[in-house]
Amino acid sequence: MPDFPIRDREFGGSVERMILITGATGTIGSEIVRLLAARGVPHRALTRDPARAGFGPATQVVRGDYDDPDSLAAAVSGADAVFMVNVIGTAAPGAHDKALLAAAEAAGVRRAVKLSAIATGDAAAGRFSAWHVPGEQALRDGPLEWTVLRPSTFAANFLWWAGEIKAGRPVPDQYGGGAQGVVDPADVSAVAVESLLADGHHGRTYTLTGPQALSTPDMAAVAGKVLGRDVAWVGLSREESRASVIASGVPEAGADDVLEGLDFVRAGGNAVVTDDVQQVLGRAPRTFEQWMRAHQDAFA
Ligand SMILES: NC(=O)c1ccc[n+]([C@@H]2O[C@H](COP(=O)([O-])OP(=O)(O)OC[C@H]3O[C@@H](n4cnc5c(N)ncnc54)[C@H](OP(=O)(O)O)[C@@H]3O)[C@@H](O)[C@H]2O)c1
Repeated sequence: MPDFPIRDREFGGSVERMILITGATGTIGSEIVRLLAARGVPHRALTRDPARAGFGPATQVVRGDYDDPDSLAAAVSGADAVFMVNVIGTAAPGAHDKALLAAAEAAGVRRAVKLSAIATGDAAAGRFSAWHVPGEQALRDGPLEWTVLRPSTFAANFLWWAGEIKAGRPVPDQYGGGAQGVVDPADVSAVAVESLLADGHHGRTYTLTGPQALSTPDMAAVAGKVLGRDVAWVGLSREESRASVIASGVPEAGADDVLEGLDFVRAGGNAVVTDDVQQVLGRAPRTFEQWMRAHQDAFA
């Protein structure tokens, strides 16, 4: 008897599946949970605090912590595929990925999809870009079928503009006018679901972007159009950016790593647009304007 009800409608009906989602309360994982629940795919959501998680009845919730190997062993038991999220600065680079992979391999998990980041491994992007390298490498070197997702900056990051916009203050530009292929996180989650459920994604590294490279002035103009008011912007110097990074909760020791990433954007290094979302989903990625319209209540 399986521990969990298996209702297999995907994988051609030939393989029983249970999908473990780590980072299940986070931006990408929570939308994956929602998509799997809507499709009736058996899935298990990992969180350090199940009491706070608030998932629906279709979602099996498991307590787990990357720093607690026993909890990972229990979480992967009976899983066929794993979605891997790890958070920058919470452990030595790669340590959390390797802990999860060790548990997954021991449990006979077949497939893993790792959430990484655009510019990973690009020396020009500074130390920040090295964070996901060991985890990606461990995944590629291991026995599991693998897919790596390297999204660009999430549109959801710009929810932090809400306070400025509501107060009628200009939104800050930390990027010196540098543009980015800002991606709707819901598109990242949708690509993750395809990679977890469908064949044909093994050995692929997808760079996930929106359809346009946008600077802060570009995005402020979109926000103004959607909200029906002027949204001004103000450029931050590198020192002002550093102060704002620290004020956002990044420890001083890590602030310079973040600054190197911002320098990379300033220099145009992240002005990248790909068609990987289109390739995987068979439709265009959502625009920043679509994301703004869907979230405009947060700015009203
Ligand atoms: N933001 C961007 O623009 C951007 C762009 C490209 C790539 N990324 C990548 O996206 C990843 C973050 O994804 P996200 O934004 O979806 O996450 P998020 O919203 O920051 O949420 C973090 C998740 O990690 C879980 N978590 C934290 N510490 C944990 C631990 N010790 N053990 C188990 N789970 C733990 C949390 O779960 P609980 O609190 O419920 O336990 C939560 O679900 C990062 O690796 C980042 O590099 C971000």
